[in-house]
Amino acid sequence: MKTRKGIILAGGAGTRLYPTTHVVSKQLIPLYDKPMIYYPLATLMQGGMREILIISTPDHIDLYKTLLKDGSQWGVEIQYITQPSPDGLAQSFILGEEFIDESPSALILGDNFFYGNNLPSLLKEATDRREISSIFAYHVKDPSRYGIVNFDSNNNVLDIEEKPNKPRSNFAVTGLYFYDENAVRFAKELSPSERGELEITDLNKRYLKIKKLKVTILRSGFSWLDTGTHDSLLEASNFVSIIQNRQGLKIACLEQIALENQWISIKDIERQISSIGSNSYQEYLRSIIS
Ligand code: DAU
Repeated sequence: MKTRKGIILAGGAGTRLYPTTHVVSKQLIPLYDKPMIYYPLATLMQGGMREILIISTPDHIDLYKTLLKDGSQWGVEIQYITQPSPDGLAQSFILGEEFIDESPSALILGDNFFYGNNLPSLLKEATDRREISSIFAYHVKDPSRYGIVNFDSNNNVLDIEEKPNKPRSNFAVTGLYFYDENAVRFAKELSPSERGELEITDLNKRYLKIKKLKVTILRSGFSWLDTGTHDSLLEASNFVSIIQNRQGLKIACLEQIALENQWISIKDIERQISSIGSNSYQEYLRSIIS
């Protein structure tokens, strides 16, 4: 039985936040004390995925390689591929066909941030659920910015609409998608939308049509933050700072997750400690192994 593989989409124009001349990919800038890409990587690792594909633009992919290397420091295997132009989230599955190799897969957007006590078990459940694909919905106050799930009076999913003008619910589809091994085939069958993209919403609708889509609502106790605006980026940084300083535990410490998953040993963390600069991250690594 093939294991589930994870994809992080960390490209896109990025021009909604910065001028086109911006030289750093958005997902490499820090959310409080670590690069933004650490958070989605942590989410996939908490879901038990060890083979990970990073997709970014031809201009930025080498920066990710420099930062994340081959992943062995965290007991995972990271591969890289470019997306020449931002032609839609669902294109990830076409670009990643060889990597996916007919396995079940999960896609996470490189600028999405998930947090919650039960998150690791929720993720592991979705990883292990092989017969049906899974997406997650979260109550938002500005639904016309997202893919929105419509429910009937018995809470069955009726439909998903991308950025509706007149949203029929406030439940947004978050940027984390678990699909079965048909994702590549289904993605290839999609046609570009009016905005010229292969829409992830259309892929979700495809699974909904064949009754193979489970929508789990992330209720209170979970936080889903996207970092698509300057304010939401600042809010996400503040959120990480508040939680970490209050609890004394770091969110998205990849070494800690790898150690908990028994993918690396204390010796490996010691090696990491001597290879990174003396900073709060290094201090934290010292504290988790002592
Ligand atoms: O954040 C969740 C939302 O993500 C969902 O609710 C929507 O259904 C889904 O379509 C998507 O919404 P957006 O259309 O607003 O996504 P955006 O174009 O902002 O892209 C999300 C991230 O993915 C962003 O960091 C840029 C990157 N990206 C985007 C596209 C279209 C790529 O790397 N490649 C792409 O082709």
